[in-house]
Amino acid sequence: IFGNPWIFIRGVPAMKFLPPEGPPEVAFAGRSNVGKSSLINALVGQKGLARTSNTPGRTQELNYFVPDGYSGEGDDLPPAALVDMPGYGYAQAPKEQVDAWTKLVFDYLRGRATLKRVYVLIDSRHGIKKNDDEVLTLLDKAAVSYQIVLTKTDKIKAAGVPKLLAETAAKIAKHPAAYPEILATSSEKASGLDELRAEIARTVGV
Ligand code: GTP
Ligand code: MG
Repeated sequence: IFGNPWIFIRGVPAMKFLPPEGPPEVAFAGRSNVGKSSLINALVGQKGLARTSNTPGRTQELNYFVPDGYSGEGDDLPPAALVDMPGYGYAQAPKEQVDAWTKLVFDYLRGRATLKRVYVLIDSRHGIKKNDDEVLTLLDKAAVSYQIVLTKTDKIKAAGVPKLLAETAAKIAKHPAAYPEILATSSEKASGLDELRAEIARTVGV
């Protein structure tokens, strides 16, 4: 699936606008500004596919991306979808908006049968914070499998990466739905991407 162009097919502002359950999908979750949209662009090798920004709160809907070349009609469905999610933990937005995003994110994570795995992105400089832990607990309760992906490793010293991996592994040990292997990535330096592409391909079965 990687190596061919991907396209944006749908922005979902509320559950009723989700595409019908079909191809296996994987979603990218994490705090605002952690680098979800940048990581999707780096994985597919298309800079402007998912919109990124310095300002937290850029992605406001569930954005669906699929490999190009499928009509989406009848049996001509794409083999997989990547779902970019709004970030959590962004306090500056109006409360009603934050509440609406949070509800959408949580409803989606709990209630989507074709969601095969969630990649929970953690900023290498910050590690797992309280609100990350709440999301992990929600995923445990919903029995949704997830894997931790450290982002922006270019922002920390190379020697700090093994230590961060060990600390993060210790923190997720008590989370039953967490996949034990943690991936370290940098979208900026294109590191860790092949490992993540391989995980995604395996997860969606292509
Ligand atoms: P929201 O949609 O607001 O939740 O944010 P997001 O998680 O999608 O983050 P986004 O990809 O928009 O990136 C946020 C900022 O981090 C941008 O300024 C990116 O350029 C920067 N960024 C993303 N990935 C990396 C990385 O690997 N290294 C560095 N140095 N910066 C990165
Ligand atoms: Mg985004």
